[in-house]
Amino acid sequence: MTTSSALDLLACGAELWELPRDEDGPVFAEPWQAQAFALAVRLSSQGHFTWREWADHLAAELAAAVDRGEADDGSEYYHHWVAALEKLVMAKRLAGEPELYERKEAWADAYRHTPHGQPVQLRPGFRIRYQYRHSPLLQVTRVDGATKTIRVQDGHLFVCSGCCCGRTEKGFPALPLEEFKQQWKRRGFRRRFHLTVSGCLGPCPLANVVLLQFRGRSMWFHSINRAEDVNLIYDWVERALQEESDLDVPAELASRQFQRYLDTGNGEESAAH
Ligand code: FES
Repeated sequence: MTTSSALDLLACGAELWELPRDEDGPVFAEPWQAQAFALAVRLSSQGHFTWREWADHLAAELAAAVDRGEADDGSEYYHHWVAALEKLVMAKRLAGEPELYERKEAWADAYRHTPHGQPVQLRPGFRIRYQYRHSPLLQVTRVDGATKTIRVQDGHLFVCSGCCCGRTEKGFPALPLEEFKQQWKRRGFRRRFHLTVSGCLGPCPLANVVLLQFRGRSMWFHSINRAEDVNLIYDWVERALQEESDLDVPAELASRQFQRYLDTGNGEESAAH
C-alpha cells in the first residue's frame, strides 16, 4: 500500500467508522491504538475483508458495549476496535482463538518483564503459563423468545467503587481502580475471568471491598487499597486458572477475608476475621 492510498483509507475510514478525530484526522491516545487502526486498514486493503464487513463487526462491538451498560464516551473505543478485529480475523480464518490468546499472553509476559522506560520485546522461549481452553458457550432463551449465547466463565471479580470505597474526600483509602482494569486487560484471561466495577456492595465501613466469585466460591475481601493487593488477587486467579483446581487464599489476603452471607452449611463461606 502506498502512502497516499493509506492516507486515503485513513481519511475515508475515519468518517465511515466515526473515529475519535480532530480537524487534522484521527487522533490516538496511545501508540497501540494507531497500530490497531493501521492493522485493520492494512488487512482490508489486502482484500481479507471488505469495509462493510469491518463496519458491521465494529458496530456490533460498540452496540454490545452499550448493552452491557458501559460508558458511551469514546474512552474504550479502541478496545472495541481490537475486539472487532479479533472476531473478524477469526471469522476469516486468518488466526485462531488459541493463537490470539497465546500471543496476548506472550506480550503480557514481555510487558511484566520489561524495566520501566525500555522498549517491550517478546522474550525468547516464552511458554504459556496455563493452557488455553475454550470457555463453554451456553444458549439462553430470554422471555421475549430470543435465544442468546453467553460464555460460561471460571470466575468474576466485583470491585466496589460506590459511595465509600475509594472516596478519599470522605476519609476512606484511595482505590487502585486503574490497576484492577489495566492488569485485567494485560493478563490475557478476559475470556475466562470477568471484571466488573460496581456500585456499593454493602459493607461500606470495610472499604475498599471486593467480591471474588470463583467456580462457585464467594470470597469477600476488605482493605484492598494498594497495587500490591491487586497483584495478590490476580496472581491467585492466574494460579487457579493454571492448576484447574481450588487453591488456598494466600495469607496476605486471608487476613482480610470476611464473611458476608449467612453460612449455608455447604462450606462456601469462611469464618469472619
Ligand atoms: S461503597 Fe463499597 S461497600 Fe459500600
